[in-house]
Amino acid sequence: MTRRLKLSLHVLDIFPQLPGEPVMACRPFLEPDSSASAGRDSDARPFLVRVEPSGKTFDAPDSLTLLEAAGFAGLRLPRSCRNGTCRTCMCQMKEGRVRYTIEWPGLTREEKAEGLILPCVAIAASDLVIDVPDAVEVELQQS
Ligand code: FES
Repeated sequence: MTRRLKLSLHVLDIFPQLPGEPVMACRPFLEPDSSASAGRDSDARPFLVRVEPSGKTFDAPDSLTLLEAAGFAGLRLPRSCRNGTCRTCMCQMKEGRVRYTIEWPGLTREEKAEGLILPCVAIAASDLVIDVPDAVEVELQQS
């Protein structure tokens, strides 16, 4: 099976950065041809993500990782590498399904079976409920 890669550019200056934290300007993104999005209407509403215990919700479109979608909604999730290796963002998915932008996210088979996910490289494949006690609401900057 051939998989196409494209670069997806995002304006990341709405993401509050910590001093010294690197800013990622682009990332590889697998075309949404996986089974999770197959047959999905491109005009379909984005999936809804509820973050526990705060109850905050945000839309998670097919074009953004959960980490990015949360950022656009003014919710800062724990993160560091943003490429699926450091596991800083790892959290419990209580309901729903995700797919990944990378072939081998840094989770064991057992962790995946327990519902642990890496939001920095995960894309919603259904409405989700995730448990992120350290999520912080941030004020979005107006341009
Ligand atoms: S931020 Fe490093 S694995 Fe998600």
